[in-house]
Amino acid sequence: MNKNEILDVVFSELKNQILENDNPEQQVLDYKEPNELKEIFKNSFIDGSDDSKLIENIRNYIKYSVKTSAKQFHNQLFAGTNLPSLLGELTSVVMNASNYTYEVSPIGALMETELIDKMAEKIGYEHASGTFLTGGSNGNLVALLCARQKYYDKVKSDGLYNLPKLTIFANEKSHYSFEKAANISGIGIDSVIYIKSDNQGEMIIEDLEFQINESIKRGEKPLFVVATVCTTEYGSFDPIIKINDICKKNDLWFHIDGAWGGSILLSDKHRNLLKGCELSDSFVWDPHKMMNIPLICSAFLTKHKGLLEDTVSTNRADYIFHEHELMEYDLGRFSLQCGRRVDAFKLWLAWDYYGDKGMNDRINKLFDTAKEVTDYIKSNEDLELVVEPRSININFRTLSKLDVDLDKFNLAIREKMRLEGSSLCNYTKINNKLVFRLIINNPEKSFDDYKKFFLNLRTAKSEIEKSLK
Ligand SMILES: Cc1ncc(COP(=O)(O)O)c(C=O)c1O
Repeated sequence: MNKNEILDVVFSELKNQILENDNPEQQVLDYKEPNELKEIFKNSFIDGSDDSKLIENIRNYIKYSVKTSAKQFHNQLFAGTNLPSLLGELTSVVMNASNYTYEVSPIGALMETELIDKMAEKIGYEHASGTFLTGGSNGNLVALLCARQKYYDKVKSDGLYNLPKLTIFANEKSHYSFEKAANISGIGIDSVIYIKSDNQGEMIIEDLEFQINESIKRGEKPLFVVATVCTTEYGSFDPIIKINDICKKNDLWFHIDGAWGGSILLSDKHRNLLKGCELSDSFVWDPHKMMNIPLICSAFLTKHKGLLEDTVSTNRADYIFHEHELMEYDLGRFSLQCGRRVDAFKLWLAWDYYGDKGMNDRINKLFDTAKEVTDYIKSNEDLELVVEPRSININFRTLSKLDVDLDKFNLAIREKMRLEGSSLCNYTKINNKLVFRLIINNPEKSFDDYKKFFLNLRTAKSEIEKSLK
Protein backbone atom coordinates (compact mmCIF):
# COMPACT_ATOMS: atom_id res chain seq x y z
CA MET A 1 0.00 0.00 0.00
CA ASN A 2 1.20 3.51 -0.59
CA LYS A 3 1.04 6.28 1.98
CA ASN A 4 -2.12 7.72 0.46
CA GLU A 5 -3.96 4.38 0.72
CA ILE A 6 -2.84 3.81 4.29
CA LEU A 7 -4.02 7.29 5.26
CA ASP A 8 -7.39 6.72 3.60
CA VAL A 9 -7.94 3.49 5.50
CA VAL A 10 -6.78 4.79 8.88
CA PHE A 11 -8.60 8.12 8.65
CA SER A 12 -11.74 6.32 7.65
CA GLU A 13 -11.41 4.06 10.75
CA LEU A 14 -10.96 7.11 12.94
CA LYS A 15 -13.89 8.89 11.33
CA ASN A 16 -16.12 5.84 11.87
CA GLN A 17 -15.17 5.75 15.53
CA ILE A 18 -15.85 9.47 15.96
CA LEU A 19 -19.27 9.07 14.35
CA GLU A 20 -20.00 5.92 16.34
CA ASN A 21 -19.62 7.96 19.53
CA ASP A 22 -23.01 9.51 18.72
CA ASN A 23 -24.67 6.10 18.78
CA PRO A 24 -26.51 5.76 22.11
CA GLU A 25 -26.22 1.98 21.88
CA GLN A 26 -22.43 1.91 21.54
CA GLN A 27 -20.80 -0.56 23.96
CA VAL A 28 -18.24 1.10 26.23
CA LEU A 29 -15.87 -1.83 26.10
CA ASP A 30 -15.24 -5.21 24.58
CA TYR A 31 -13.52 -6.52 27.69
CA LYS A 32 -10.58 -8.91 27.36
CA GLU A 33 -8.27 -10.37 29.96
CA PRO A 34 -4.57 -9.40 29.67
CA ASN A 35 -3.70 -12.81 28.20
CA GLU A 36 -6.31 -12.43 25.50
CA LEU A 37 -5.02 -8.94 24.64
CA LYS A 38 -1.46 -10.26 24.50
CA GLU A 39 -2.60 -12.92 22.08
CA ILE A 40 -4.25 -10.30 19.85
CA PHE A 41 -1.09 -8.18 19.77
CA LYS A 42 1.33 -11.13 19.69
CA ASN A 43 4.61 -11.43 17.76
CA SER A 44 5.33 -7.72 18.03
CA PHE A 45 8.70 -6.02 17.47
CA ILE A 46 10.82 -9.01 16.43
CA ASP A 47 10.76 -9.11 12.63
CA GLY A 48 8.98 -5.87 11.97
CA SER A 49 5.55 -5.94 10.32
CA ASP A 50 3.90 -4.73 7.15
CA ASP A 51 1.22 -2.22 6.13
CA SER A 52 -1.68 -4.57 6.70
CA LYS A 53 -0.38 -5.47 10.20
CA LEU A 54 0.05 -1.76 10.88
CA ILE A 55 -3.58 -1.15 10.02
CA GLU A 56 -4.72 -4.24 11.92
CA ASN A 57 -2.89 -3.03 15.05
CA ILE A 58 -4.68 0.31 14.82
CA ARG A 59 -8.05 -1.39 14.26
CA ASN A 60 -7.47 -3.64 17.25
CA TYR A 61 -6.41 -0.73 19.41
CA ILE A 62 -9.69 1.01 18.60
CA LYS A 63 -11.73 -2.19 19.03
CA TYR A 64 -10.41 -3.08 22.48
CA SER A 65 -10.05 0.43 23.90
CA VAL A 66 -12.51 1.84 26.39
CA LYS A 67 -14.79 4.15 24.41
CA THR A 68 -14.47 7.18 26.66
CA SER A 69 -16.65 9.21 24.32
CA ALA A 70 -19.47 6.65 24.38
CA LYS A 71 -22.75 7.78 25.90
CA GLN A 72 -22.41 5.13 28.61
CA PHE A 73 -18.96 6.16 29.80
CA HIS A 74 -19.49 7.97 33.11
CA ASN A 75 -16.36 6.79 34.86
CA GLN A 76 -14.02 9.77 34.95
CA LEU A 77 -13.97 13.53 35.32
CA PHE A 78 -13.50 13.60 31.55
CA ALA A 79 -15.92 12.08 29.04
CA GLY A 80 -16.34 12.88 25.38
CA THR A 81 -14.45 15.43 23.36
CA ASN A 82 -16.14 18.18 21.40
CA LEU A 83 -15.52 18.20 17.66
CA PRO A 84 -13.58 21.48 17.27
CA SER A 85 -11.11 20.55 19.97
CA LEU A 86 -10.75 17.02 18.65
CA LEU A 87 -9.88 18.46 15.24
CA GLY A 88 -7.47 20.84 16.97
CA GLU A 89 -5.79 17.92 18.71
CA LEU A 90 -5.44 15.97 15.47
CA THR A 91 -4.07 19.01 13.69
CA SER A 92 -1.50 19.81 16.33
CA VAL A 93 -0.35 16.18 16.35
CA VAL A 94 0.12 16.27 12.59
CA MET A 95 2.09 19.54 12.84
CA ASN A 96 4.10 18.21 15.80
CA ALA A 97 5.48 21.54 17.02
CA SER A 98 6.92 22.07 20.47
CA ASN A 99 5.45 25.05 22.26
CA TYR A 100 8.69 26.21 23.83
CA THR A 101 9.87 28.87 21.41
CA TYR A 102 8.28 31.36 19.06
CA GLU A 103 10.57 30.24 16.28
CA VAL A 104 9.30 26.67 16.29
CA SER A 105 5.69 27.30 17.32
CA PRO A 106 4.63 30.85 16.52
CA ILE A 107 0.85 30.34 16.40
CA GLY A 108 0.82 27.96 19.35
CA ALA A 109 2.80 30.45 21.46
CA LEU A 110 0.42 33.28 20.63
CA MET A 111 -2.62 31.12 21.35
CA GLU A 112 -1.29 29.89 24.68
CA THR A 113 -0.50 33.47 25.70
CA GLU A 114 -3.95 34.63 24.68
CA LEU A 115 -5.62 31.78 26.56
CA ILE A 116 -3.66 32.45 29.75
CA ASP A 117 -4.88 36.06 29.57
CA LYS A 118 -8.43 34.94 28.91
CA MET A 119 -8.44 32.43 31.75
CA ALA A 120 -6.89 35.02 34.07
CA GLU A 121 -9.69 37.40 33.17
CA LYS A 122 -12.29 34.73 34.00
CA ILE A 123 -10.60 34.12 37.36
CA GLY A 124 -10.41 37.87 37.98
CA TYR A 125 -6.62 38.27 38.13
CA GLU A 126 -5.57 41.67 36.82
CA HIS A 127 -2.07 40.57 35.93
CA ALA A 128 -1.11 36.96 35.60
CA SER A 129 1.57 34.64 34.41
CA GLY A 130 0.73 31.12 33.52
CA THR A 131 1.55 28.04 31.58
CA PHE A 132 -0.09 25.02 30.08
CA LEU A 133 1.26 21.87 31.67
CA THR A 134 0.75 18.16 31.80
CA GLY A 135 -2.24 18.11 34.14
CA GLY A 136 -3.76 19.42 37.34
CA SER A 137 -1.38 17.33 39.43
CA ASN A 138 1.58 19.13 37.88
CA GLY A 139 -0.20 22.44 38.25
CA ASN A 140 -0.57 21.81 41.97
CA LEU A 141 3.14 20.98 42.15
CA VAL A 142 4.07 24.19 40.33
CA ALA A 143 1.82 26.15 42.72
CA LEU A 144 3.70 24.72 45.68
CA LEU A 145 7.06 25.47 44.08
CA CYS A 146 6.00 29.08 43.42
CA ALA A 147 4.93 29.46 47.05
CA ARG A 148 8.26 28.05 48.24
CA GLN A 149 10.09 30.42 45.89
CA LYS A 150 8.11 33.47 46.99
CA TYR A 151 8.75 32.98 50.69
CA TYR A 152 12.26 31.50 50.42
CA ASP A 153 13.88 32.83 47.28
CA LYS A 154 17.22 31.16 48.04
CA VAL A 155 15.62 27.73 47.93
CA LYS A 156 16.23 27.40 44.20
CA SER A 157 19.99 27.55 44.61
CA ASP A 158 20.44 26.27 48.17
CA GLY A 159 17.73 23.66 48.49
CA LEU A 160 15.76 23.10 51.68
CA TYR A 161 18.72 22.71 54.04
CA ASN A 162 18.39 26.00 55.88
CA LEU A 163 14.62 26.18 55.97
CA PRO A 164 12.26 25.55 58.85
CA LYS A 165 9.86 22.64 58.52
CA LEU A 166 7.21 23.88 56.08
CA THR A 167 3.58 22.78 56.28
CA ILE A 168 0.76 22.56 53.75
CA PHE A 169 -2.97 22.54 54.53
CA ALA A 170 -5.59 20.82 52.42
CA ASN A 171 -9.10 19.47 52.82
CA GLU A 172 -9.06 15.78 53.75
CA LYS A 173 -11.10 15.38 50.55
CA SER A 174 -8.53 17.19 48.40
CA HIS A 175 -6.81 15.51 45.47
CA TYR A 176 -3.91 13.15 46.15
CA SER A 177 -1.58 15.25 44.00
CA PHE A 178 -0.70 17.46 46.99
CA GLU A 179 1.09 14.53 48.60
CA LYS A 180 3.01 13.99 45.40
CA ALA A 181 3.85 17.69 45.23
CA ALA A 182 5.02 17.64 48.86
CA ASN A 183 7.19 14.65 48.07
CA ILE A 184 8.74 16.09 44.91
CA SER A 185 9.30 19.54 46.43
CA GLY A 186 11.19 18.03 49.35
CA ILE A 187 8.64 19.36 51.82
CA GLY A 188 7.56 15.82 52.57
CA ILE A 189 4.28 13.96 52.62
CA ASP A 190 3.99 14.15 56.40
CA SER A 191 3.97 17.93 56.14
CA VAL A 192 0.58 17.86 54.41
CA ILE A 193 -1.92 18.54 57.16
CA TYR A 194 -5.42 17.41 56.34
CA ILE A 195 -8.31 19.58 57.44
CA LYS A 196 -11.60 18.01 58.45
CA SER A 197 -14.55 18.37 56.13
CA ASP A 198 -18.29 18.46 56.79
CA ASN A 199 -20.77 15.91 55.47
CA GLN A 200 -20.83 17.71 52.09
CA GLY A 201 -17.07 17.24 51.80
CA GLU A 202 -16.33 20.96 52.38
CA MET A 203 -13.42 22.17 54.48
CA ILE A 204 -14.30 23.07 58.07
CA ILE A 205 -12.77 26.49 58.50
CA GLU A 206 -12.42 26.28 62.29
CA ASP A 207 -10.29 23.18 61.88
CA LEU A 208 -8.07 25.02 59.39
CA GLU A 209 -7.43 27.80 61.90
CA PHE A 210 -6.84 25.26 64.65
CA GLN A 211 -4.38 23.22 62.58
CA ILE A 212 -2.41 26.31 61.48
CA ASN A 213 -2.05 27.38 65.11
CA GLU A 214 -1.01 23.89 66.17
CA SER A 215 1.60 23.82 63.42
CA ILE A 216 3.01 27.18 64.57
CA LYS A 217 3.11 25.92 68.17
CA ARG A 218 5.17 22.94 67.02
CA GLY A 219 7.72 25.40 65.61
CA GLU A 220 6.81 24.70 61.98
CA LYS A 221 6.29 27.32 59.28
CA PRO A 222 2.88 27.10 57.61
CA LEU A 223 3.36 27.91 53.93
CA PHE A 224 0.48 26.92 51.69
CA VAL A 225 -3.27 26.43 51.90
CA VAL A 226 -5.36 24.97 49.11
CA ALA A 227 -9.07 25.40 48.50
CA THR A 228 -10.50 22.72 46.24
CA VAL A 229 -13.27 23.69 43.81
CA CYS A 230 -14.76 21.20 43.28
CA THR A 231 -13.59 18.10 45.11
CA THR A 232 -12.93 14.98 43.08
CA GLU A 233 -15.45 12.73 44.77
CA TYR A 234 -18.15 14.99 46.24
CA GLY A 235 -18.03 17.81 43.69
CA SER A 236 -18.09 20.21 46.64
CA PHE A 237 -16.53 23.66 47.14
CA ASP A 238 -14.24 24.80 49.93
CA PRO A 239 -15.14 28.24 51.38
CA ILE A 240 -12.84 30.46 49.31
CA ILE A 241 -13.37 33.81 51.02
CA LYS A 242 -12.95 32.49 54.55
CA ILE A 243 -9.84 30.54 53.57
CA ASN A 244 -8.42 33.65 51.95
CA ASP A 245 -9.00 35.65 55.16
CA ILE A 246 -7.03 33.09 57.15
CA CYS A 247 -4.23 33.06 54.57
CA LYS A 248 -3.94 36.84 54.58
CA LYS A 249 -3.99 36.96 58.38
CA ASN A 250 -1.16 34.42 58.60
CA ASP A 251 0.73 35.48 55.46
CA LEU A 252 0.27 32.14 53.67
CA TRP A 253 0.12 31.28 49.98
CA PHE A 254 -3.48 30.69 48.92
CA HIS A 255 -3.87 28.22 46.07
CA ILE A 256 -7.10 27.16 44.39
CA ASP A 257 -7.29 23.70 42.87
CA GLY A 258 -9.87 24.25 40.17
CA ALA A 259 -8.69 21.29 38.10
CA TRP A 260 -12.22 19.95 38.16
CA GLY A 261 -14.37 23.02 38.85
CA GLY A 262 -12.40 25.87 37.22
CA SER A 263 -14.53 25.63 34.09
CA ILE A 264 -17.61 26.64 36.12
CA LEU A 265 -16.22 30.19 35.81
CA LEU A 266 -17.57 30.11 32.26
CA SER A 267 -21.15 29.88 33.49
CA ASP A 268 -22.86 33.15 34.39
CA LYS A 269 -25.41 31.17 36.40
CA HIS A 270 -23.01 29.05 38.47
CA ARG A 271 -19.72 30.98 38.64
CA ASN A 272 -20.83 32.30 42.01
CA LEU A 273 -19.78 28.92 43.42
CA LEU A 274 -16.20 30.17 42.97
CA LYS A 275 -16.87 33.63 44.42
CA GLY A 276 -13.67 35.26 45.66
CA CYS A 277 -11.33 33.13 43.53
CA GLU A 278 -9.52 36.29 42.35
CA LEU A 279 -8.20 36.63 45.91
CA SER A 280 -6.02 33.56 45.51
CA ASP A 281 -2.31 33.57 44.67
CA SER A 282 -2.58 30.76 42.15
CA PHE A 283 -5.14 28.68 40.31
CA VAL A 284 -5.13 25.36 38.48
CA TRP A 285 -7.73 24.71 35.77
CA ASP A 286 -8.16 21.59 33.61
CA PRO A 287 -10.12 22.26 30.41
CA HIS A 288 -9.65 18.54 29.66
CA LYS A 289 -12.25 17.80 32.31
CA MET A 290 -15.43 19.91 32.24
CA MET A 291 -14.80 21.61 28.87
CA ASN A 292 -14.48 18.32 26.94
CA ILE A 293 -11.09 19.17 25.45
CA PRO A 294 -9.01 16.05 24.64
CA LEU A 295 -6.45 15.04 27.25
CA ILE A 296 -4.15 16.77 28.08
CA CYS A 297 -5.22 20.38 28.45
CA SER A 298 -4.43 21.99 31.77
CA ALA A 299 -3.32 25.43 32.92
CA PHE A 300 -1.60 26.93 35.95
CA LEU A 301 -1.92 30.65 36.65
CA THR A 302 -0.53 32.95 39.28
CA LYS A 303 -1.13 36.63 39.90
CA HIS A 304 2.53 37.17 40.87
CA LYS A 305 4.17 38.40 37.69
CA GLY A 306 7.68 37.08 37.15
CA LEU A 307 7.48 34.50 39.92
CA LEU A 308 6.69 31.55 37.67
CA GLU A 309 9.77 32.16 35.53
CA ASP A 310 11.92 32.69 38.65
CA THR A 311 10.62 29.40 40.01
CA VAL A 312 11.06 27.09 37.04
CA SER A 313 13.73 28.64 34.82
CA THR A 314 17.40 27.78 34.56
CA ASN A 315 20.20 29.80 33.00
CA ARG A 316 21.65 26.75 31.24
CA ALA A 317 19.17 26.91 28.36
CA ASP A 318 20.58 29.65 26.16
CA TYR A 319 21.20 27.10 23.39
CA ILE A 320 17.44 27.12 22.84
CA PHE A 321 16.16 30.38 24.33
CA HIS A 322 18.18 32.84 22.26
CA GLU A 323 18.18 36.57 22.95
CA HIS A 324 15.62 38.22 20.66
CA GLU A 325 12.85 40.76 20.79
CA LEU A 326 10.03 38.19 20.92
CA MET A 327 11.33 36.30 23.94
CA GLU A 328 8.04 36.80 25.77
CA TYR A 329 6.69 34.13 23.40
CA ASP A 330 9.40 31.61 24.25
CA LEU A 331 7.01 29.86 26.58
CA GLY A 332 9.41 27.12 27.56
CA ARG A 333 10.97 29.66 29.93
CA PHE A 334 7.84 29.41 32.10
CA SER A 335 7.71 25.64 32.13
CA LEU A 336 9.26 22.71 33.99
CA GLN A 337 9.24 20.83 30.70
CA CYS A 338 11.55 21.18 27.73
CA GLY A 339 9.51 19.71 24.86
CA ARG A 340 5.90 20.84 25.16
CA ARG A 341 2.86 19.75 23.19
CA VAL A 342 0.72 22.51 21.74
CA ASP A 343 -2.20 21.86 24.07
CA ALA A 344 -3.44 25.41 23.61
CA PHE A 345 -4.58 25.06 20.00
CA LYS A 346 -7.42 22.61 20.68
CA LEU A 347 -8.78 24.79 23.50
CA TRP A 348 -8.38 27.95 21.46
CA LEU A 349 -10.27 26.37 18.56
CA ALA A 350 -13.15 25.13 20.73
CA TRP A 351 -13.47 28.41 22.63
CA ASP A 352 -13.44 30.34 19.37
CA TYR A 353 -16.04 27.98 17.87
CA TYR A 354 -18.52 28.05 20.77
CA GLY A 355 -17.66 31.52 22.04
CA ASP A 356 -18.17 32.58 25.65
CA LYS A 357 -21.91 32.20 25.10
CA GLY A 358 -21.66 28.62 23.86
CA MET A 359 -19.29 27.64 26.67
CA ASN A 360 -21.69 29.18 29.17
CA ASP A 361 -24.55 27.14 27.70
CA ARG A 362 -22.53 23.93 27.74
CA ILE A 363 -21.66 24.24 31.44
CA ASN A 364 -25.24 25.23 32.31
CA LYS A 365 -26.53 22.18 30.46
CA LEU A 366 -24.36 19.94 32.67
CA PHE A 367 -25.87 21.44 35.81
CA ASP A 368 -29.41 21.18 34.39
CA THR A 369 -28.90 17.52 33.50
CA ALA A 370 -27.36 16.84 36.91
CA LYS A 371 -30.50 18.28 38.50
CA GLU A 372 -32.73 16.05 36.34
CA VAL A 373 -30.69 12.98 37.27
CA THR A 374 -30.73 13.92 40.97
CA ASP A 375 -34.53 14.34 40.90
CA TYR A 376 -34.83 11.00 39.16
CA ILE A 377 -32.79 9.26 41.86
CA LYS A 378 -34.83 10.92 44.60
CA SER A 379 -38.09 9.83 43.05
CA ASN A 380 -37.11 6.16 42.70
CA GLU A 381 -37.31 4.04 45.82
CA ASP A 382 -34.72 1.54 44.68
CA LEU A 383 -32.09 4.31 44.51
CA GLU A 384 -30.53 6.24 47.38
CA LEU A 385 -28.86 9.63 46.96
CA VAL A 386 -26.02 9.46 49.46
CA VAL A 387 -25.07 13.13 49.43
CA GLU A 388 -26.94 16.14 48.06
CA PRO A 389 -24.93 17.21 44.98
CA ARG A 390 -23.34 20.67 45.02
CA SER A 391 -22.37 20.41 41.36
CA ILE A 392 -22.31 17.61 38.81
CA ASN A 393 -20.92 14.66 40.81
CA ILE A 394 -23.81 12.44 41.83
CA ASN A 395 -23.08 9.88 44.51
CA PHE A 396 -25.80 7.30 44.91
CA ARG A 397 -26.32 3.61 45.44
CA THR A 398 -29.01 1.11 44.71
CA LEU A 399 -30.97 -0.73 47.39
CA SER A 400 -32.24 -4.27 47.44
CA LYS A 401 -35.21 -6.05 48.96
CA LEU A 402 -32.91 -9.00 49.61
CA ASP A 403 -30.78 -9.16 52.71
CA VAL A 404 -27.44 -8.28 51.11
CA ASP A 405 -24.27 -6.41 52.00
CA LEU A 406 -25.03 -3.26 50.02
CA ASP A 407 -21.37 -2.38 49.46
CA LYS A 408 -20.63 -5.74 47.87
CA PHE A 409 -23.94 -5.70 46.03
CA ASN A 410 -23.35 -2.28 44.42
CA LEU A 411 -19.80 -3.19 43.52
CA ALA A 412 -20.98 -6.43 41.90
CA ILE A 413 -23.46 -4.48 39.78
CA ARG A 414 -20.79 -2.02 38.76
CA GLU A 415 -18.38 -4.77 37.81
CA LYS A 416 -21.01 -6.66 35.85
CA MET A 417 -21.80 -3.58 33.78
CA ARG A 418 -18.11 -2.89 33.26
CA LEU A 419 -17.22 -6.39 32.10
CA GLU A 420 -20.27 -6.60 29.86
CA GLY A 421 -19.42 -3.18 28.46
CA SER A 422 -22.95 -1.80 28.92
CA SER A 423 -22.03 1.18 31.17
CA LEU A 424 -18.90 2.26 32.99
CA CYS A 425 -19.35 4.29 36.15
CA ASN A 426 -16.78 4.63 38.92
CA TYR A 427 -17.37 4.04 42.61
CA THR A 428 -16.04 5.41 45.84
CA LYS A 429 -16.80 5.39 49.57
CA ILE A 430 -18.89 8.26 50.93
CA ASN A 431 -20.12 8.29 54.53
CA ASN A 432 -18.93 4.68 54.80
CA LYS A 433 -21.16 3.59 51.95
CA LEU A 434 -19.89 2.27 48.64
CA VAL A 435 -21.51 4.50 46.03
CA PHE A 436 -21.62 4.98 42.30
CA ARG A 437 -19.94 8.30 41.46
CA LEU A 438 -21.91 9.35 38.42
CA ILE A 439 -20.29 12.31 36.67
CA ILE A 440 -22.45 14.47 34.40
CA ASN A 441 -19.74 16.01 32.27
CA ASN A 442 -20.62 15.67 28.63
CA PRO A 443 -23.23 18.17 27.43
CA GLU A 444 -23.70 16.08 24.32
CA LYS A 445 -25.36 13.40 26.45
CA SER A 446 -29.07 13.74 27.11
CA PHE A 447 -31.17 12.75 30.10
CA ASP A 448 -32.19 9.67 28.04
CA ASP A 449 -28.57 8.50 28.12
CA TYR A 450 -28.71 8.56 31.91
CA LYS A 451 -32.06 6.75 31.90
CA LYS A 452 -30.37 4.10 29.81
CA PHE A 453 -27.63 3.92 32.44
CA PHE A 454 -30.25 3.23 35.13
CA LEU A 455 -31.83 0.64 32.87
CA ASN A 456 -28.48 -1.12 32.46
CA LEU A 457 -27.96 -0.90 36.20
CA ARG A 458 -31.35 -2.46 36.94
CA THR A 459 -30.81 -5.23 34.39
CA ALA A 460 -27.47 -6.14 36.01
CA LYS A 461 -29.04 -5.83 39.44
CA SER A 462 -31.96 -8.17 38.75
CA GLU A 463 -29.62 -10.78 37.26
CA ILE A 464 -27.46 -10.64 40.38
CA GLU A 465 -30.51 -10.82 42.63
CA LYS A 466 -31.77 -13.86 40.69
CA SER A 467 -28.46 -15.61 41.22
CA LEU A 468 -28.67 -14.93 44.96
CA LYS A 469 -32.17 -16.34 45.45
C1 LIG B 1 -9.59 18.30 42.30
C2 LIG B 1 -8.54 17.69 41.41
N1 LIG B 1 -7.31 18.21 41.41
C3 LIG B 1 -6.33 17.72 40.64
C4 LIG B 1 -6.58 16.64 39.82
C5 LIG B 1 -5.47 16.09 38.98
O1 LIG B 1 -5.66 16.47 37.66
P1 LIG B 1 -4.88 15.72 36.47
O2 LIG B 1 -5.57 14.41 36.31
O3 LIG B 1 -5.08 16.64 35.32
O4 LIG B 1 -3.47 15.58 36.89
C6 LIG B 1 -7.84 16.07 39.80
C7 LIG B 1 -8.10 14.89 38.96
O5 LIG B 1 -9.13 14.29 38.99
C8 LIG B 1 -8.86 16.61 40.61
O6 LIG B 1 -10.07 16.08 40.65
